[in-house]
Amino acid sequence: MTKVWKTENPADWQLDAVLCCVHEGENVLDANPELLKAFPWLLKTALMDVRGEKEEISIIYAPENAEAAPRIVFAGLGKRDDLTLDGLRRAVSAGVRRAKALKLQSVGLFVPAFERLQPKRADHALRPLEEAVVSAKLSLYSYDALKSKKDDQIADPEIFLAPVATPSAELKDFVKRALLAAEAVCFARNMVNTPANLFGPDQMEEAALAFAARHPEVQSTVVDHHGLQSEGMGAFLAVGQGSPRTPRLICLDYCPAGCENEQPLVLVGKGLCFDSGGISLKPAAGMHEMKGDMGGAAAVLGAMQLVAGLGMKKRVVGLLACAENMPDGKATRPGDVVTTMSGKTVEILNTDAEGRLVLCDTLTYAQKYYDPKLMIDVATLTGACVIALGDHAAGLFTQDRHLAATFTELGEVVGEPYWPMPLWESYKEPLKSDSADLGNIGLREGGAIFAALFLEAFVEPGKAWMHLDIAGPSYLSKRTVLNPAGGTGFAVRTLVEYIRNC
Ligand code: BES
Ligand code: ZN
Ligand code: ZN
Repeated sequence: MTKVWKTENPADWQLDAVLCCVHEGENVLDANPELLKAFPWLLKTALMDVRGEKEEISIIYAPENAEAAPRIVFAGLGKRDDLTLDGLRRAVSAGVRRAKALKLQSVGLFVPAFERLQPKRADHALRPLEEAVVSAKLSLYSYDALKSKKDDQIADPEIFLAPVATPSAELKDFVKRALLAAEAVCFARNMVNTPANLFGPDQMEEAALAFAARHPEVQSTVVDHHGLQSEGMGAFLAVGQGSPRTPRLICLDYCPAGCENEQPLVLVGKGLCFDSGGISLKPAAGMHEMKGDMGGAAAVLGAMQLVAGLGMKKRVVGLLACAENMPDGKATRPGDVVTTMSGKTVEILNTDAEGRLVLCDTLTYAQKYYDPKLMIDVATLTGACVIALGDHAAGLFTQDRHLAATFTELGEVVGEPYWPMPLWESYKEPLKSDSADLGNIGLREGGAIFAALFLEAFVEPGKAWMHLDIAGPSYLSKRTVLNPAGGTGFAVRTLVEYIRNC
């Protein structure tokens, strides 16, 4: 990792800009007395029009030969009492993107200004700084690996931290975590954005094994299609049989020294490298976005990378359920009945409801081989969940209300919102099938709930389980302040925050 910390002596900074945040209705110099230490030339009158309104960016220029930086970018936060972590992330993001538009090569976050912020729901005094660093990094993300010329032709500014006092070890730790978190989110975004011809089950396996090779605490196993056959994972296999790119279950067991006897937290990711719908073919419009149907698996792999990178002392298993859903002479037909690893039979009434088919066998596999303390599955599972919640939040399903509350709270802190959804007993009826134990679809109305109830049927009684339907927020058709169009890396950070707190 490159050196991000500037010294506490502003004369050494040599930055193109310093980014400082300001609240509306406050005197900038009174609120940030350290500014004068770094910028002794700063005049009250120069700051007259820095109002600190939400998302307002003002730039103040230094006289010639100023040492620390020739300009200060002020990012408005709005009123102090209204500040949320999301407001902070937006302000930083707007400031950094302005710096990029100005073609600046280096931006330093003015540490004391971020240290004193007190946004609602911040769970630690250093959280605002951490979020500032993460959003500065994430706001520069773009996927242009496949363009011969970059869209904007502007290099990203490098992000630095500009302190005025020696940073504590704790502060440095928070910043390090922020940088690793941003990296993990971008890792997930890249996988989602890579088109399916370049990122199939083979490449997902390569990415997972390369990650495992970097970390001796990670044991990897790949259950290939022969393995899926010998395990009796008939539902999983049915999804992949229409594609020449064979399905597989990739298992990553992160077990740091001392955790050998711990029951693991098992993360299960839906890894449909492409979902055409199969014989129940999807309509053409928007089908290309289904290259992102492995967003759950990408989030799990991103989270594993972050957990391992931080050297967390918890046992975490990641299971990536990878396949490609294609129509073909060998593909599953609507009406086909398969036997799952659990022994339950399933009538596949719609081949486009394939995520639950790879996931149900993976949940059974997890319970047979890992004795999980808790299973969390992450999946771009249903269009119905997008209809219910839009692309702002993911649906969260669990019988454990305490877990739902904890996870939702953490999601809000890191800017990945979740909304609790029901698992009503009475909704199980439509999942019945005439010819098998279960059908793979319920009714259209309430579709996200039927998908979740289908999965729940494969969770042994008493086993702790949570399902996250990230179909909406995992992939954006249009850019927002904080995310470009395409993969967002949604869920990576909340999963890791949860692991840290559990
Ligand atoms: N991958 C889709 C869900 C999806 C939709 C993800 C939109 C992201 C954006 C999933 O496999 C699917 O097709 N689900 C069907 C289920 C239906 C056939 C019961 C759906 O939601 O329409
Ligand atoms: Zn589908
Ligand atoms: Zn799908």
